[in-house]
Amino acid sequence: MAMNPFDIGQYREVLRPCNEASSMPSHCYVSPEWYAAEVEHIFMYGWHLVGRADQIPDPGDYFSFEIAEERVLLVRGEDDHVRAFSPACRHRGSLVAQGDGNCRAFVCPYHRWTYSTEGALRSAPAMEQAVSFDAAEYGLVEFRLEQWAGFLFVTLDSDARSLEAELGDLPELMARYRLDEMVFTRQKTYDLACNWKCYVDNSTEAYHVPSVHGKSLEPVAPMQVWQYAVRERYYNIYAYFPGTMGVLKGERSFPPIEGLGEQEVERHDLAILLPNTVITATVDSLWWVTASPRGPNRTFVMVNHAFPRKTVERADFAEIAQGYYDRFDMVNVEDNDICELQQIGITQRARRPGRYSDHEELVGAFAAYVTEQVLEQRT
Ligand code: FES
Ligand SMILES: [Fe+2]
Repeated sequence: MAMNPFDIGQYREVLRPCNEASSMPSHCYVSPEWYAAEVEHIFMYGWHLVGRADQIPDPGDYFSFEIAEERVLLVRGEDDHVRAFSPACRHRGSLVAQGDGNCRAFVCPYHRWTYSTEGALRSAPAMEQAVSFDAAEYGLVEFRLEQWAGFLFVTLDSDARSLEAELGDLPELMARYRLDEMVFTRQKTYDLACNWKCYVDNSTEAYHVPSVHGKSLEPVAPMQVWQYAVRERYYNIYAYFPGTMGVLKGERSFPPIEGLGEQEVERHDLAILLPNTVITATVDSLWWVTASPRGPNRTFVMVNHAFPRKTVERADFAEIAQGYYDRFDMVNVEDNDICELQQIGITQRARRPGRYSDHEELVGAFAAYVTEQVLEQRT
């Protein structure tokens, strides 16, 4: 008889405390049914960090984002307000925009229905015969958008609680980094052949740092220094060590963020926002990564950087920033490769769930979170 992936009996070991738990069964990383349930019960709720307001500083600026295959178009309107829309045309559904850019209006490439940067349908050719057709009813579908510290968050759930309620004490934890004064400088994306959870799992533990990042990250931020904490709506990984986490050992770096205290100038924080975003704040800069699923075994990874405005305005910014980007291009590929290797292993019929080290407390917590969301259909 075919196995039911939603039978809780298969997840008892997943739901135990980390030092007693086993990792998730393989079907959670490959099954279309399980994946569809994750999209429905995890990604269609809650607030998702989609980018920063300063990515689109001028009216008409826009960029695209994906929340588990649901496209979101972020645009600054002529009225200077940032809004989030579905880019699906209200005629027969083609995408009216992809990627990023600046425009005065979104013209659908299929039949040229044209939308303002505030989402209103401005013109629709040859529609005079359509009975009681009112263009005012055919604007782009808008999603709820809220902001914190310069970050834009979108929810696909019209009943979602406020962003403030969802973030809990995260703003307090991050206050010292003055995130609202940061400037977006670069995005790099990767299309990976792995389940999105492989990537998130990898981002929640430093157990792999000596092996996977032996020559890159380990000399800067070794496995042993990291501590882990499960908060209500996010996980925190933090460590104290001198210098930035943003460059390879010995590379030139920027001065610390203004106002950091004596202890704070050695502290580094990762905040893992459930379900799939990691914000990392180090002593001189910020980066955030989203691992958005495109199917059970495909993940679209977006890696973004920001630096304090004062740093970005330095004459030598581009030159020194390159060292940060080079370090990321190296570390990201190390993570990408190991996640794709793991996905192949997980699809082997002979693969069985394994046990966790105490450096993987958050991997265990994340597996339990996903399982609970899917099985209980929202807590
Ligand atoms: S699908 Fe957009 S104009 Fe026809
Ligand atoms: Fe890594």
